[in-house]
Amino acid sequence: MSALAHAFNAELLGRLSQLSRRHQYDPYVRFDWPAQIDRSRPWCDEDLLTTYGTTFHAELTEEQMIALSHWECLNFFSLNVHGIKGALEFLMRSIYEKRYRVFSEYLHFFMAEENFHMWFFAKFCLDYTGKIYPSIAMPAVKTGDPVEQDLYMFASTLIFEEYVDFYNNKVGRNAKVPDLLREINHQHHVDESRHIAFGREVVKYLYAQLLAQDESEQAAPRVRLQVQRIFVYFIGLMYNPAVYQDAGLAAVSGLPNATALRNHLRNDPTRRQFHQQWFERTAGFFVKQGILENADFI
Ligand SMILES: [Fe+2]
Ligand SMILES: [Fe+2]
Repeated sequence: MSALAHAFNAELLGRLSQLSRRHQYDPYVRFDWPAQIDRSRPWCDEDLLTTYGTTFHAELTEEQMIALSHWECLNFFSLNVHGIKGALEFLMRSIYEKRYRVFSEYLHFFMAEENFHMWFFAKFCLDYTGKIYPSIAMPAVKTGDPVEQDLYMFASTLIFEEYVDFYNNKVGRNAKVPDLLREINHQHHVDESRHIAFGREVVKYLYAQLLAQDESEQAAPRVRLQVQRIFVYFIGLMYNPAVYQDAGLAAVSGLPNATALRNHLRNDPTRRQFHQQWFERTAGFFVKQGILENADFI
């Protein structure tokens, strides 16, 4: 396969930069931050809760569901903060690498927007709950090849962005959640639509480069396995024991502790259809590129 056949889509970059300029906003005045956030209302849609569909969920009171939605929102925003930190750290290091010259310019828009996102997600967590949940590191990948290493970084950023977008898109249109949350989710959804278009192009570009330089023909199965691991890692992060503890659900679950409840929910077979819904669009992209054979592992 020739790497030249997969030149980066420069026309897309021009369009994305233009859109970033056109939709530019000042994040520091974009939202109204009330002194208190309404805790009598849910902070996300009921079908986005990690208990949804399980027998445990059917037993929850309205009040418990609302409490769970608050702590799951905190988990979700915390994941964004950590995900953005990791992506920015990596991009800062590699922005002017020779192989990224083609999109170095666009990365300035990307990084600026992600910096704004990190600010509003972290501010929400700290102002209204006083904390950000700690991150759980992704299992490290051992590869000496910089293209392959970067492919994993961009692929995980893309999978994360598409995963987040499913939630943002729904909550951004939900009239029941407090205004600030609807606005944050909506704004993030709008910005991420550009990042997703960019991320998909980068993944195609790097994957083609990797295949072109791979004489052993071992790269494709290695990448497939790692991309599957990234999906499974993000699905696992949806279920945070600290959430169930803070929402007071561990105590009423009949299970020994929050970790046992977390594992019970994570492995409940009824949850699989919801994982598939969340991840089907991005998994479909990886299948279309031939990176994954199918999405059966989700
Ligand atoms: Fe973002
Ligand atoms: Fe993004």
